[in-house]
Amino acid sequence: MPKISQKSNNASQPQLKGKPVSASRSEMAEVVLPANTNPLGKLLGGHVMHLVDVAAAMAASRHSNSYVVTASVDYIDFRNQVGIGEIVVLKSQVNRVFNTSMEVGVKVFSENALTGERKHTTTAYLTFVALDSVTRAPKTAAPLIIKTAEEKRRWREAGERRKARLALRYRKNRSKD
Ligand SMILES: CC(C)(COP(=O)(O)OP(=O)(O)OC[C@H]1O[C@@H](n2cnc3c(N)ncnc32)[C@H](O)[C@@H]1OP(=O)(O)O)[C@@H](O)C(=O)NCCC(=O)NCCS
Repeated sequence: MPKISQKSNNASQPQLKGKPVSASRSEMAEVVLPANTNPLGKLLGGHVMHLVDVAAAMAASRHSNSYVVTASVDYIDFRNQVGIGEIVVLKSQVNRVFNTSMEVGVKVFSENALTGERKHTTTAYLTFVALDSVTRAPKTAAPLIIKTAEEKRRWREAGERRKARLALRYRKNRSKD
């Protein structure tokens, strides 16, 4: 399959070298402890959201080699509960680079260390903006090199989601006037 490489469209910056999705794909894991559970001994949704933000920021920052800020979180779901003592595993990857912003997808799994059983518990999509380390203004992120059919599907779907999230953003801005 041919590689897709997005070109930077910021004429004032030198052409950035593209990076493959694999270069910034990230994984983190932690054991579910009592401080992060509800009275039923299940992992708090708010803690999952915190971990999702951290895992996603890791991929965005690695891709852009920059400080990044979360611009939006447009989808998150909770499919299965994660119990105390289980391991929560988060996998993140950059789905698409636009210009200064990047969509990152995060998948969360619960893993029972005693049985090895793994369940998909959460999917989330977040947008991060790369910031210049001196001015802290948005800066162009490196183009993303897409290699596999799966990466191409995520890249295409990220474009659809961007249309929806930016339409919502500008509709909200207009309603403030
Ligand atoms: C996100 C932020 C940097 C955008 O700055 P801005 O001055 O509005 O900049 P712009 O309008 O030029 O947008 C910059 C990029 O952000 C994207 N963006 C801005 N708001 C967005 C939103 N709600 N959802 C998705 N993307 C968004 C724009 O589409 C643009 O992307 P592009 O360059 O790839 O096309 C700014 O709003 C901010 O700092 N927000 C606070 C972030 C924060 O505190 N996060 C939590 C802690 S990390």
